Amino acid sequence: EVDKSHRCTMSELDSTWEVSEHPELEVPVLDLAVLLENSELEKPRPEDNDQPAGDMILQQRRRQELVKAMAKACQRWGFFQVLNHGVDQALIQRCEAEAHRMFQLPLDVKERVHRPPGASFGYGANTWVNQKVMHWAESFHMQLHPTSNIHDMAAKLFAESDPNQFSSAVEEYMAAVDGLARRLLELLTEGLGLEPGHFNQYLEKERMISMRFNFYPPCPEPSLAIGLRAHTDPHLLTILHQDSVAGLQVQIDGKWIPVKPRPDCFVVNIGDLFQVLSNTMYKSVLHRAVVNSSSQRLSLACFLNPPLNATVAAPPELITPEWPQIYRPFTWLEYLKNAYFPTERTWENFIVYL
Ligand code: SIN
Ligand code: FE2
Repeated sequence: EVDKSHRCTMSELDSTWEVSEHPELEVPVLDLAVLLENSELEKPRPEDNDQPAGDMILQQRRRQELVKAMAKACQRWGFFQVLNHGVDQALIQRCEAEAHRMFQLPLDVKERVHRPPGASFGYGANTWVNQKVMHWAESFHMQLHPTSNIHDMAAKLFAESDPNQFSSAVEEYMAAVDGLARRLLELLTEGLGLEPGHFNQYLEKERMISMRFNFYPPCPEPSLAIGLRAHTDPHLLTILHQDSVAGLQVQIDGKWIPVKPRPDCFVVNIGDLFQVLSNTMYKSVLHRAVVNSSSQRLSLACFLNPPLNATVAAPPELITPEWPQIYRPFTWLEYLKNAYFPTERTWENFIVYL
C-alpha cells in the first residue's frame, strides 16, 4: 500500500483550526555543535597540538548519534530544528530587517514586482483560499541561482532608497543558509545508510536556489483566515527561520502540532523531492501557518532544489523486494510544472507513482 498521507486536498483546508494540546509531541531540536567541532578537527593542526584519539572517537560517536536522531525525526515528523547551526545571528537579523523594510513599503511600490498567478517570483498579497477563508499574508519570492532576480527587483522596490542594502543582505543570507542546507543534505543522506555525498549530483551549478519571505500582519478574525494553507513543500529541503511569534504547525497523526518559535534555531523540513529520493523513508509532511490577532509574524524560507533538468529517482540501494520503488523517475521541472503550479495542487494531477 502506497503512503498517500502527503496529499493535500481542499477538504483539509477546512478541517478544524484547533491546535492539539500534546506537550509530549514536539518537533525535535538537534544541536549541531558537534559538527562545528568536527570541522575544527578537519583542519590541519600543528604536531604538538594533536588532539588525543579518545576525543576524536567520542566526537565521531556524537556525530553518529546526531545523524541517527536526524533520520529518526525525518521518518516520523519530516521536521526538526537545528541549534548551533553556524549561521551568524547578526546576518539573520540583517535579513529580517530588510524583509520588514520591504513589507513596509507602500502597496503600489511592492506591486512594481507583482507576482502574477502561476509565476514563480515576485510579491504577492492576500488571496481567498475559498469563499470562507482568506490568506492573511504577504509573501515575496526570489531566486539567487542559476540567475539572480534579486538585484532587478531590489532596484524597483528601493529606487528611492538603497537597493544594495537589500540585495546584499539577502544574497549573503541565502548563501549562508545554502551552505547549511548542503551540510544537512549530507547528514540526511548518511542517515539513509548512503555515502554522505551520494546526492551531491543534485547540487550542481545549475541548481535552483530560491527563497520566500512570509509576513503575517495581526488578523482581526484569525478563525476566518489562514496564514499559509496546509501544504507540503515541493523542494528537496526547506530551511526556515521564524521570529519569536508562533504560527507554524505540522500535521502529525492527523493533529496540528505547533512548532515552537526558536529564533536561535532553523526549522528544517523534508520536501516532496527528498521523500521521493528516500523512497518514502523520509516524509514530506503537511504543514501550515496560522495567524493571530495581536502580533505580526515574519518567517524566512530558503529552499534547496536540484537543477531543473535533473531526474529525481530513489537509488537502487533504497529499493528492496520488501520496500519496492514507490515513484517513477521525473525531473524537477516536470514536477514544478505539473504538480506545483496548478492552483489546485494535488499529486493526483501529476501521477508520480509507479
Ligand atoms: C511559516 O512558518 O511562516 C511558513 C512555513 C512555510 O513556508 O511553509
Ligand atoms: Fe512550506
